[in-house]
Amino acid sequence: MNSFITIAEHTREQLLYLLEMARLFEEQPNRNLLEGKVVATLFFEPSTRTRLSFETAVNRLGGRVIGFSDASNTSTSKGESLKDTIMMVSNYADLIVMRHYLEGAARYASEVSPVPVINAGDGANQHPSQTMLDLYSILKTQGTLDNLNIHLVGDLKYGRTVHSLLQAMRHFNPTFHFIAPKELSMPEEYKLYCKEHHIKYVEHSEFDEDTIAEADIIYMTRVQRERFTDLMEYERVKDVYILRGSMLCKSKPNLRILHPLPRVNEIAYDVDDNEKAYYFQQARNGLFAREAIICNALGIGLEQIK
Ligand code: CP
Repeated sequence: MNSFITIAEHTREQLLYLLEMARLFEEQPNRNLLEGKVVATLFFEPSTRTRLSFETAVNRLGGRVIGFSDASNTSTSKGESLKDTIMMVSNYADLIVMRHYLEGAARYASEVSPVPVINAGDGANQHPSQTMLDLYSILKTQGTLDNLNIHLVGDLKYGRTVHSLLQAMRHFNPTFHFIAPKELSMPEEYKLYCKEHHIKYVEHSEFDEDTIAEADIIYMTRVQRERFTDLMEYERVKDVYILRGSMLCKSKPNLRILHPLPRVNEIAYDVDDNEKAYYFQQARNGLFAREAIICNALGIGLEQIK
């Protein structure tokens, strides 16, 4: 069983191993490694990139896909439990890719499932496959993962992508800058995690050209409307930080701007044409990273890809 639930469980060597697999898949995405395999994609929350890139990955590897993108059309709407859904799907598929709105749902699914489970995002908790494509994008654009200044901007409270990225980067001596309004600041548990793992971080409430002048990576995030219980609070903070092209005037030449997407308002469209904008290429890298994750979950190693 090789489930992929949280990035925190992975060593530096395991992460670099998966990144090397992703590099080989970028060289040649079409490989007949999953012949006869069926992968189920169960999306209890909306998705564009994660679901489609996982499904594309299976197709490019010669496997087949079953699943749903809207749980209201499944027997969940009749009251079927997550456990029973997982048990049923594992009768049909060799691997389950699941996104769920509940934190911990992926861990639970992996504990009851007879087949491996890949976490495609569980509530505000983790998004480990996103982290693999983020690491791959950082490595490609910076030539290294070590000793980088990484500025995380926006919704650091509910943003599961920044939580996973923070944990993965503990192996690479980063300096994090947390830029968020106080309502959306990095949760205490992750600041404690930084202290325990000797990860340097600085907190900011200003977001301007001086705050980002030394950044190697700016990681913008969307304010996650769906996680707010108080929509008035969402309205107050939703547009608090917007990256505009003019703010890049003092930025380093190697700076790259990442965003897990979808964006709403947090990156102005005038940034898209800047050579430092990398978010669309980042999403493309998701295909290669997810080919690697799928193969790893099914016991297909680097030596079978080379
Ligand atoms: N980055 C990401 O998870 O995008 P989707 O919600 O479209 O899958």
